[in-house]
Amino acid sequence: MLLKRYRSIYITFLVAFCTQISYSTEKAKSMKVLIDNVFTFAEKQYAPLAEQVYKLEGKVPRSTDANGALVTSDISWWTSGFFPGTLWYIYEYSKDSAMLNYARKFSKRIESEKFTTNNHDVGFMLYCSFGNGYRLTHDTSYPEILVTSSNSLITRYRPKIKSIQSWDKSELYNCPVIIDNMMNLEMLFWASKYTNDSKYKEIAVNHANSTIKNHFRKDFSSYHVIDYDLTDGHIIKKVTNQGCADASAWARGQAWGLYGFTMCYRETKDKRYLAQAKNIANFILNHPNLPTDKIPYWDFNAPKIPNEPRDASSAAIIASALIELSGYVGEQDALTYKNLAEKILRSLASPAYLARFGTNGGFLLMHNVGNMPKKYEIDSALCYSDYYFLEALLRYKAKFCS
Ligand code: GLY
Repeated sequence: MLLKRYRSIYITFLVAFCTQISYSTEKAKSMKVLIDNVFTFAEKQYAPLAEQVYKLEGKVPRSTDANGALVTSDISWWTSGFFPGTLWYIYEYSKDSAMLNYARKFSKRIESEKFTTNNHDVGFMLYCSFGNGYRLTHDTSYPEILVTSSNSLITRYRPKIKSIQSWDKSELYNCPVIIDNMMNLEMLFWASKYTNDSKYKEIAVNHANSTIKNHFRKDFSSYHVIDYDLTDGHIIKKVTNQGCADASAWARGQAWGLYGFTMCYRETKDKRYLAQAKNIANFILNHPNLPTDKIPYWDFNAPKIPNEPRDASSAAIIASALIELSGYVGEQDALTYKNLAEKILRSLASPAYLARFGTNGGFLLMHNVGNMPKKYEIDSALCYSDYYFLEALLRYKAKFCS
């Protein structure tokens, strides 16, 4: 009798276990199909865009205007590395030689930006382009470009505030440091490993520590801008530049913070960065204003929610970060992060956000917000949205579909 009971419990468990496995396998298979479809589309959509813009000397694709037409930028604009970076990701997926050629050519186009010292964006520009290029090809001419870029970036380090100054002094700010700056640290970690010189990493760590200390609120949302006084290092003000209010949670700012601290944990294994990333993730995933499709409004506190534009770029950055973060935490958190990332990716890959061929200025994702207060790129395409979307899909494939 007892034996019979044990047998029936065992069979119940076995059936539940097998159902779970086959459900997970089905989900992984359907995500693999989704990823394959997006990359096939990306290649088809980006090849003519690359061909078209390469003819415009000194230009790179940036976004779309109010009519959905392509907007290009000069190579000095902060987003210039994302288009070459996206080409590198498409090449990583397809191994197509035409894509490799475009990725090399557009990276080369922005190389002179390695000398940028008048803002912090040199990390975004050069690491997303040449960083990926070096990772994928080991081209021996690329490290010099990345080391020069890192040397440019660290000229902006201010020992008094143990931070890299984001923008130059202006009428608005004395020494502003923005949460976005966390993203530029990845290149500095790379530079220390490549050169064996710890100075880049030390600056990155100091910057990350100051960011934890000064940018975050009790609920682990972050201020966009901290303005410091360089004479004695005190904080003049904590404000926003791209959010709806100084005390609000600008969506992309939260995404940059999540991604930045996840990356800092990868590079240092410092548990404080892991805790920070988990706390930011919890703020995002438990936020009452996160919509059911998990694509945030442009600011979590935007005044007219639900009648506010969404920002697909924040969603893409969050998804990419969560996939990485899921590899550093316990089983339960890992599943939560994976599920949220998957939900975001499914939403982004749906017709609600993914453009049709030949539309959206040649970009992939619709419904992003560049800069609401300055009234540009509202509900437009954005080159960095595509970049982090494809990065997230590649990360998902590598981690969960093999
Ligand atoms: N300032 C960079 C961004 O718009 O996220």
